[in-house]
Amino acid sequence: MSNIVVKPITACIGAEVEGIDLTRELSQDEVNLVKEALLKHLVLFFHDQNIDQDQHIAFARYFGELSIPPLKTKYMERPEITVLDQVKPLGEGADQWHNDNTFMANPPMGSILKAELLPSVGGDTCFANMYAAFDALSEPMKTLVEGLTAVHDITRPLTKAIRDGHSTADLAEMQKAWPPAEHPVVLTHPETKRKALYVNRNSTVYLKGVSERESELLLPFLCDHVRSPDYQCRFRWRKNSIAFWDNRCLQHFAVPDYNERRVMQRVTIK
Ligand code: SIN
Repeated sequence: MSNIVVKPITACIGAEVEGIDLTRELSQDEVNLVKEALLKHLVLFFHDQNIDQDQHIAFARYFGELSIPPLKTKYMERPEITVLDQVKPLGEGADQWHNDNTFMANPPMGSILKAELLPSVGGDTCFANMYAAFDALSEPMKTLVEGLTAVHDITRPLTKAIRDGHSTADLAEMQKAWPPAEHPVVLTHPETKRKALYVNRNSTVYLKGVSERESELLLPFLCDHVRSPDYQCRFRWRKNSIAFWDNRCLQHFAVPDYNERRVMQRVTIK
């Protein structure tokens, strides 16, 4: 018997989860309810969860094996925990709509992000439902894009991270370790079997199966299609809030409207 209550925050995406304490071991019932809610709402929000790094990792492990992120920030002490420590986030990469790490051949299933230190105001994160983005395309456009493949590349996000002093990685070495990856433009979610638009401004570099000129015109249109508020929600963080999102059918955007320190801690699931 669980006390979990799931409260949607919009009709399309996002729900707050109450009645769960992530500092302790979860029952199978609780894990199943969280999984079910994630598939339904795409991103779940938890407040007042004062978990340490071990508890953060333990929570993620209920949902799959951990992904050790290839893009390491220089603040990381443990390979499983990515620390995002920013003061001037404008143009640093997370302020573009994106799925995480689609430059990988097998991008992560999801991420669990916790707020450690927040600016006095600002620093919200927006999330978009990419099933709804696909559904909102016209039928002829759906037919066109369903047959296409896109190429995703690490170069753009890593170049920004190095430029802004967040990563000390060697670009050439990383490009060799993570060669460009191909993914369908419309991804069928392995669990829900629903179709989601799966291209993003951070990592998708061109479309295959159309001419170069057609790709140059069509890709920006598809990436920008995420911008409609119809399929978005916006989360206002508190210290010890957590967001858990499904990276396969959702994009996110960190609003760069602050100039004070903001520290977040993320664990990613394969
Ligand atoms: C991210 O892009 O994963 C970070 C989101 C955030 O800092 O709000």
